Amino acid sequence: MAENPRAFVCGHPIAHSLSPEIHGYWLRQHGLAGTYEAVDVTPENFTSFLRGFHESGLSGGNITIPHKVMAFLTCDELDTAARQIGAVNTVWFENGKLLGSNTDAYGFLAHLGEQVPDWKSSAPAIVLGAGGAARAIVFALKQLGVPKIHIVNRTGSRAIDLAAEFGEPAEGHGWAEIQELFENCGLLVNTTSLGMKGQPPLDVPVGRLPKDAVVYDIVYMPLETKLLEASSDHGLRTVDGLGMLLHQAVPGFQKWFGKRPEVDDDIRDHVLGILKGRS
Ligand code: ATR
Repeated sequence: MAENPRAFVCGHPIAHSLSPEIHGYWLRQHGLAGTYEAVDVTPENFTSFLRGFHESGLSGGNITIPHKVMAFLTCDELDTAARQIGAVNTVWFENGKLLGSNTDAYGFLAHLGEQVPDWKSSAPAIVLGAGGAARAIVFALKQLGVPKIHIVNRTGSRAIDLAAEFGEPAEGHGWAEIQELFENCGLLVNTTSLGMKGQPPLDVPVGRLPKDAVVYDIVYMPLETKLLEASSDHGLRTVDGLGMLLHQAVPGFQKWFGKRPEVDDDIRDHVLGILKGRS
């Protein structure tokens, strides 16, 4: 490891990324030498940035919108998560090779296990949405051995294609099937953009979910979405998206700076304060 490791997050645009705040907080908390910087790279320049960041003294970094799929296509080697999700969010060089990982599924499961360790993983799970975020969640739930993963999407054909790609136990559905599927569900996960600041709320019949179901919204801006609010009103347990964002940062931090950080109330409060300032 370099004496003063320099890590980065690369995206376009990048100004609103919370990663520099998260990694910066942990660097200060542990009194570690090192930096974590935001790098704005356009799609035209991304491949050469990725191939060359090591030469400019950077140890590794996170990749965010819109570069995650290009990073997947460019890396020399990928871990299983990145390969199956089809996107890379963490990169580093090892023996001259560019390696790529995807820590979103890890972040999702770490937060779920921490918040609701007794959630019913023996019941079917429902994933709303069939985009890039859904891929990480379906991968995570499949790894865990959840017996049925219903992918439900406005454009039903996208859900069916995604389910076919992942194979058993994933199954694709159109939105019209929600009512029926909700009656037998241990975990509902929103991966659509609905509920995010500036988007309409996600309005689904959470009252039809079993009383012991858990509702997880990966949206963190706002932290308490209308979906989570309605679910709490029905007495359901809820999980917000901030923990996933924090946990997905852990493996990269450990790799670049040599210390495994804790996702505790301090870092959560720090990031919440920043989110509040922005809303
Ligand atoms: P990401 O990579 O962040 O998941 P994406 O690939 O654009 O982003 O996917 C966004 C998801 O939100 C999709 O599942 C999309 O549904 P469609 O495939 O039908 O477009 C879903 N979504 C976006 N707006 C929606 C809306 N108004 N109603 C229902 N689903 C919506």
